[in-house]
Amino acid sequence: MTYKTEQEAFWAGEFGDQYIDRNNDAEIVAANTALFARILRATRAVNSVLEFGANIGLNLQAIRHLLPHAHLAAIEINAQAVKKLQALGNISTFHQSILEFEPECARDFVLIKGVLIHINPAALNAVYHTLYQSSRRYICIAEYYSPYPVELNYRGHEGKLFKRDFAGEMLDKFPDLKLIDYGFSYHRDLVFPQDDMNWFVLEKGV
Ligand SMILES: C[S@@+](CC[C@H](N)C(=O)[O-])C[C@H]1O[C@@H](n2cnc3c(N)ncnc32)[C@H](O)[C@@H]1O
Repeated sequence: MTYKTEQEAFWAGEFGDQYIDRNNDAEIVAANTALFARILRATRAVNSVLEFGANIGLNLQAIRHLLPHAHLAAIEINAQAVKKLQALGNISTFHQSILEFEPECARDFVLIKGVLIHINPAALNAVYHTLYQSSRRYICIAEYYSPYPVELNYRGHEGKLFKRDFAGEMLDKFPDLKLIDYGFSYHRDLVFPQDDMNWFVLEKGV
């Protein structure tokens, strides 16, 4: 397959396959359950969820426990991850790049976690647009935060990890979005450690 950006090829290929092996653990689902129990308190009546860059479904498995009746959907570029997502059952899975995705309907809660940091910065505006179009009501962004754009080395790779104020940029771009909650998850949490991430819940205006 050909991709628009080197970052997409990176995640579709061997690095993406190895990521799955490093991050396949019931404790991650437990920590995600604690995280989304906190995040979803800001929301009401979520009956459909779409995750951008869902990997093997460690967030969606947590959300399924919390919202057992919600319809779940996932976009994922890596073929091995897609196989595992499909094996979970009852998750509508789009095996494609977020940069190519066109929503066939809007979902109540659209989630992106640890993925915007790996998108080519030149493609970010398009991804913000797709997130916005895909959401009927809520957009949840959980990413590494920086008040200004910075690039970091990622496990020895250049051009693969970028931090910035993703949620702030979406709030600037779409004036009807409102910030309804935000928080921080910490790798030293004594019970449910997560990557050091900031999460934001945005709601579309009516
Ligand atoms: C760091 S992992 C995070 C996985 C998951 N969101 C989580 O929180 O555990 C990044 C995921 O995004 C996927 N990904 C990266 N770029 C993508 C793109 N352009 N389109 C679809 N998926 C992408 C990767 O294959 C990988 O599964």
